[in-house]
Amino acid sequence: MRVVDADLRDPAWVDAVPERQVDAVLTATALHWLPEQTVQRVYKELACLVRPGGVVAHAEQMPLVGLPRLGVGLADVERKRRVGTRADRVSWDMWWEEAGRDPALRSAAVQRQAVFESGYPTEEFSPPADWHVDALLAAGFAEADVVWRSGTGAVVAAVR
Ligand SMILES: C[S@@+](CC[C@H](N)C(=O)[O-])C[C@H]1O[C@@H](n2cnc3c(N)ncnc32)[C@H](O)[C@@H]1O
Repeated sequence: MRVVDADLRDPAWVDAVPERQVDAVLTATALHWLPEQTVQRVYKELACLVRPGGVVAHAEQMPLVGLPRLGVGLADVERKRRVGTRADRVSWDMWWEEAGRDPALRSAAVQRQAVFESGYPTEEFSPPADWHVDALLAAGFAEADVVWRSGTGAVVAAVR
């Protein structure tokens, strides 16, 4: 395994990937940080990077637009599931502060803080699954659809 440090907001991120073609791309709960036009651009870049017949799978929170009442009910179930757990008492800010006190994680936590202080967007873009399907098809993928869903969590896959 190789780790490549690159920012998807910069189209040059593709140059940081040593391979010119890959069989598959998996993203998990990361693209919601990017604005709509950037996700569309990244999908076009993936359509060049993934070989014909290769696959992209994108896992993310994708709202249930056709089931608004059930969506509210599921969010309530999730909220109740967290009551009394550590996740209910510890915010992400507290988690990162604690990570910053760990000698092994301190430098990474400082680096992360610098990214957020540099004006990283706080708005999240979380469209429904259909938006991803349409954007992947528009980017040049031959097939795209939802392949897994549990409540608001879903995986959209596309074949180049
Ligand atoms: C919620 S974490 C998910 C991490 C991992 N995919 C997982 O499922 O455990 C969100 C990830 O998105 C990455 N990320 C956010 N904005 C990014 C950007 N502009 N370019 C590259 N990665 C980004 C963060 O570094 C972080 O690793």
